[in-house]
Amino acid sequence: MRQIQCIILFLAIAYQAIAQPRTESNFNKDWKFFLGDRSGAEKASFYDGDWRKLNLPHDWSIEGEFSKEHPATNQGGALPGGIGWYRKTFTLPASEQGKLIAVNFDGVYQHSEVWINGKSLGKRPNGYLSFQYDLTPHLKFGAEKNVIAVRVDNSKQPNSRWYTGSGIYRNVKLISTNKISVDHWGVFVTTPQVSKAQALVNQKTVLRNLSGKAGKVKVEVAVLDANGKQQAKESKEVNISGKSIETSHDLTVIQPNLWSVTNPYLYKIVTKVYQNNTLIDQQENTLGIRSFKFDVKEGFYLNEEPLKILGVCLHHDLGALGAATNVRAMERQLEMMKAMGANAIRTAHNPPAPELLDLCDKMGLLVMDEAYDMWKKRKNKFDYHLDFEEWHKKDLEDLVKRDRNHPSVFMWSIGNEIREQFDSTGTKIAAELSSIVKSLDPTRPVTTALTETYPEKNFIWQSNALDVLGFNYKIFDYDSLPVRFKNIPLIAAETTSALQTRGVYDLADTLRLWPASSKDKFVVNGNPDHTVTAYDNVAAYWGVSHEQAWKAVKDRQFMSGIFVWTGFDYIGEPVPYDFPARSSYYGIVDLAGFPKDVYYMYQSEWTDKPVLHILPHWNWEAGKTVDVWAYYNQADEVELYLNGKSLGVKTKEGENLHAAWKVPFEAGTLKAVSRKNGKTVLTKEVRTAGAPHKIELVADRSKLKADGLDLSFVTVNVLDKDGNLVPNADNLVKFSVKGNGTIAGTDNGYQADLTSLVKPERKAWKGKCLAIIKSTEKAGTIKLTAKADGLPEASLKIRTK
Ligand code: GAL
Repeated sequence: MRQIQCIILFLAIAYQAIAQPRTESNFNKDWKFFLGDRSGAEKASFYDGDWRKLNLPHDWSIEGEFSKEHPATNQGGALPGGIGWYRKTFTLPASEQGKLIAVNFDGVYQHSEVWINGKSLGKRPNGYLSFQYDLTPHLKFGAEKNVIAVRVDNSKQPNSRWYTGSGIYRNVKLISTNKISVDHWGVFVTTPQVSKAQALVNQKTVLRNLSGKAGKVKVEVAVLDANGKQQAKESKEVNISGKSIETSHDLTVIQPNLWSVTNPYLYKIVTKVYQNNTLIDQQENTLGIRSFKFDVKEGFYLNEEPLKILGVCLHHDLGALGAATNVRAMERQLEMMKAMGANAIRTAHNPPAPELLDLCDKMGLLVMDEAYDMWKKRKNKFDYHLDFEEWHKKDLEDLVKRDRNHPSVFMWSIGNEIREQFDSTGTKIAAELSSIVKSLDPTRPVTTALTETYPEKNFIWQSNALDVLGFNYKIFDYDSLPVRFKNIPLIAAETTSALQTRGVYDLADTLRLWPASSKDKFVVNGNPDHTVTAYDNVAAYWGVSHEQAWKAVKDRQFMSGIFVWTGFDYIGEPVPYDFPARSSYYGIVDLAGFPKDVYYMYQSEWTDKPVLHILPHWNWEAGKTVDVWAYYNQADEVELYLNGKSLGVKTKEGENLHAAWKVPFEAGTLKAVSRKNGKTVLTKEVRTAGAPHKIELVADRSKLKADGLDLSFVTVNVLDKDGNLVPNADNLVKFSVKGNGTIAGTDNGYQADLTSLVKPERKAWKGKCLAIIKSTEKAGTIKLTAKADGLPEASLKIRTK
């Protein structure tokens, strides 16, 4: 009887092992964390009962206090680094025995080492790359426990020019496959021929056979449209002698729905592997069918149609959430960029979270995917230059293999402002890096962001290994570029570096450079409160205003596009100030996600949506002459009125992308009317506000998924009794939540606010602040309450499902 039971059990296990072709499970939950170093913490028997329990992704730096003592300096965000340990205890069902089981980390900042049951699996210095370890030989099954331990070392500082975050700040998965299966990153899909009539889709698949037996499998590759309807399929018998076997499938899709920035249509490409008619592996990848090219004179074409690349550079932090990956926070940033008219993102200056690329695929944003900020020559004492020699090949290969199936990715950047461009070592390294990329993806151009505009002095250019030349800044050299660098497409890989604090308005007249030159590290005689005016007229000395930078690209067809530095403010690099400034001033949108005025300049230029935006606010001292600007489009002129009296009709004069008036202040209502052929297009008003009277809470979303990840970004507006935003209000707002949510962070966009970004209170900055509310895994309601000194309490409800 026992024997029969055993046989039945064995058959059940064997059946399950085959019936479950591949599982990818979320491995983020129930980790233990210790901030600091602990000897012996890699051992399975180590006691971690007193460690903090948390779910990943996790960034311990953002939980810290801002201080000028932190060795990252304010360039790195003035937040702590250090060493941290993570451990997770888990069991595996007996049915998993005989499978290949791997753990996948999408990014650990940085210098991680991973152990399973006390056995070291390897180290990974680079903090931005995804990596996988095979756990199979070390695992226990059934009731026996396994322990995975990760040591993260971000103690050597400074190692970055911007805020990096620390810890296992991206997702972790456990992947289980059969011994014969599609290899890790084993699928490479391309679209060698694309037309409206039909597209040829090719998939190269690498199979692994770790069963130790030769044999045959059937590999079936099918293209499904967005409704799941099959559009093409090819099956092949494949001989699987050897451990690694490559096979190739060609599929024709008739009348393809082409992927573009306005129609980001995604197909699915499904790979099935059968052995003796049993499905032993299945994998799905997204497929976007599109073609593109660069023309030296005419710029960029997507699907044979000209398209100016309207891009922004983004660092990876998510404001008050730090570096910890959160899909909704990334989506919100991208939605704001799309609504502004952007159609491209540059992942400055490192590989992004894979989820960012999924979003760009879905939302229709092109991506310049960037590998490095430095090669062998350092920018900071402890940065990646120390690991470049040993790791650059593996790191770059992994980046390309991981990201090459995303339709959004259209260029690989092998580096940003690499110092080797200035000496002969740059030539060889550029050639090597470009050939690594090409060997894994011959379909996309390789570029790099250069600053040296003379070919004879630019040793990276001399490698001839670049397909597109990216130049940072130097807009006054644009007309010489096609003369000096012949027959190669050009892109403004990075421009602008204008500086602004939301809601601050000083003189608007001339462009000021802060700092003025390389002689000064910081601005001399800047604003005592570490702010910068939000009229678009201050830039770092290597930069220009937003209007100048965009005009320079707009007016030149041969410049295929622009990447503005930056879409959002980010933590770190607070040029032009020293501490207490701790986040950047470059963003079109501030760190909290509130647009600065110049957002509407882009929207007026980059979208077809009618725009009329006026600045500044209307609370000044009597008699002061105030510069009033209007960004507008789809109109011939704008007329401005103060308390009903016309101040004249204006248009955009000279090189300006805004209309401007000088207005002697008088309290009341300032009103702008844009007109086309004499007919009103839009009207905008701004009124002098009285004293703070109440706070208003506005949630970007009032229904969330009860998944412990979803977010509602709640804006607090300080209003006067008539509902006008009080433009200088700085009330301290204290938040609390009841029910199924937590406060994940608070912010106000002010670059020198030293209150920790995770604290549930925040002073309003220029009338506004933000609370980020996160759902728990339990469905129900969240009640957020906000109290500001002297004002009535406000609350709102968010439902979670
Ligand atoms: C660029 C650099 C960016 C950022 C920017 C600030 O030169 O590539 O990473 O530092 O300057 O203006």
